[in-house]
Amino acid sequence: MTDKKTLFEEITREIEGCRKCPLYETRHHPVPGEGSLNAEVMFVGEGPGRQEDLTGRPFVGAAGRLLDFLLKGINLSRKDVFIGNVVKCRPPNNRTPFTTEVEACKPYLYAQIAIIQPKVICTLGNTPLNTLISPRLTIGKVHGTVLEKDGFTFMPLYHPAAALYHNALKKTLIEDFNKLKELLEKMKEKN
Ligand code: URA
Ligand code: SF4
Repeated sequence: MTDKKTLFEEITREIEGCRKCPLYETRHHPVPGEGSLNAEVMFVGEGPGRQEDLTGRPFVGAAGRLLDFLLKGINLSRKDVFIGNVVKCRPPNNRTPFTTEVEACKPYLYAQIAIIQPKVICTLGNTPLNTLISPRLTIGKVHGTVLEKDGFTFMPLYHPAAALYHNALKKTLIEDFNKLKELLEKMKEKN
């Protein structure tokens, strides 16, 4: 059987050479995502921002620092989890990716999920929620809840960047991360 690392590297190579949507024209570096391929939790953001585009790494700007803080609060670090995005190349001026771009890029994310097989997928903000779970849901209504879809367990969370603009959301994010911790503990008890 081909191991996870080999399969993951194959996807990464495809992403690096990808020209399936116009976002490749303006990217500096694609951001395939990173972390443990045996992660129990996978976080999925919208797409690379400026710092991510310059470095090729996910969540390394201000939102990433908040994500690190939230992870630490539930005794996790980046190396325990996997952090990825719906689109792998930065949309100009950080606009929301177009549906056509999401559709072009989605197979990479599905392939990564299939390799990692996380116990819980945490979508961050509306874009991954609408892409992976349902276009009819909004994060304000479903954050911190447990949803099942296609045999996967999801817990949608606010995007950490939202808490940088609306300070009150930071408390909500801390509470929801604690719900994630409880969910993981409950899953462990069952096994
Ligand atoms: N915001 C995202 O959605 N993804 C990143 O990688 C960084 C910021
Ligand atoms: Fe390819 Fe995705 Fe980048 Fe578009 S955003 S060029 S589909 S890797």
